[in-house]
Amino acid sequence: MRTCNSNAQLQTALKRFRSEGQSIVFVPTMGNLHEGHLDLVRKARTLCDIVVVSIFVNPLQFGAGEDLDGYPRTMAADKEKLFAEGVQLLYAPGVEDIYPDGMSRQTIVSVPELGDTLCGSSRPGHFDGVTTVVSKLFNIVQPDVSVFGEKDFQQLSIVRKMVKDLCMAIEIIGVKTTRDEDGLAKSSRNGYLSQTERSIAPLLHQTLTNCREAIACDFDNFLQLESHARMKLLQAGFEPDYFAIRDARTLRAVTEDTEEIAILAAASLGNTRLIDNVRLSLNPVGDWRMLADG
Ligand code: PAF
Repeated sequence: MRTCNSNAQLQTALKRFRSEGQSIVFVPTMGNLHEGHLDLVRKARTLCDIVVVSIFVNPLQFGAGEDLDGYPRTMAADKEKLFAEGVQLLYAPGVEDIYPDGMSRQTIVSVPELGDTLCGSSRPGHFDGVTTVVSKLFNIVQPDVSVFGEKDFQQLSIVRKMVKDLCMAIEIIGVKTTRDEDGLAKSSRNGYLSQTERSIAPLLHQTLTNCREAIACDFDNFLQLESHARMKLLQAGFEPDYFAIRDARTLRAVTEDTEEIAILAAASLGNTRLIDNVRLSLNPVGDWRMLADG
C-alpha cells in the first residue's frame, strides 16, 4: 500500500493505474477506522481494480463547540488495517493540501432541503462541510465508484443528490450498517461511551426496530410512534435530538407516494451523540415490508 500525503503524489500514483486501464473505487474516511469502515473497504474491493482510501479529518464539517481537536487520530493503526485489507492507495492529505487558500474563502457546495433537516437542523453547516470536502476529494481522486455507509443515511442521500445535480460521473454505492452483536451501529464515537452508557446504547437501534415493526403491522399514527419512541429513549437516559419517520428519498414527511420509509434517530448519551436508522419499503401489494438492513 502506498501512502500519498499530497495531491501531487496521488496524481502520480493514479496516473499509472489509469494508463493501465484499471478502474478506481474511493472510500473517503476521517480515520479512526473500525469494522464499519473495513466493511466499506471490503465492499469496495469487489467493485473495482484499485481501492483508494482517504483519511482526512475535515475541519469544515465541525461546528462551533464540536471537538475537532479531540477527534481521535490513529494513523499508524489505520494504516495497518488498510494494508491488511489489500488497499492499494491511501491519501492522507494535510489541511493545507485540501484548503490551500484557507477555509473562509473556500467555494461551498451546498445541497438544499436534504441538508437542512434532521442532523442538518442541529448541526448547521455540517453537511455543507461534508459536500464541499467530498466534491474536492472526488475531483482529486476522480474515481469510477465511491462507497458510503448507510449508517449515515442522510449523508448518503445528500452525496447521491450532489452527484446527480452536479453531473459527476461517479457511481455511489451504499453499504449496510455494521453492528455489534447487541445491535449498536459501529461508530468512531462508541469509544467515547462509559461502561454504563455502552450498556444503554443498543436501545437506540431497538427503539428504531420496534417502530419499524409497528409500521409493518399497519400502525399508521406516525406522530404517536415518534413521540412514544422519544419518551422511551428519554426514560432510558438518552437525550433525544430527533426520532423521525420520513420518506427515504426526500427525507420529508411520508406521503401517499412514499415507496420506502426511513426511520432515523439521533440521541445523546452523556456527551456522545449517536445516530442510526432503519428502513422499510412498500411491497407490490402495498403492505410495508421490513428491509433486511438490521
Ligand atoms: O462520513 C465521514 O467520515 C465523513 O463525513 C466524510 C464522508 C469522510 C467526509 O469528511
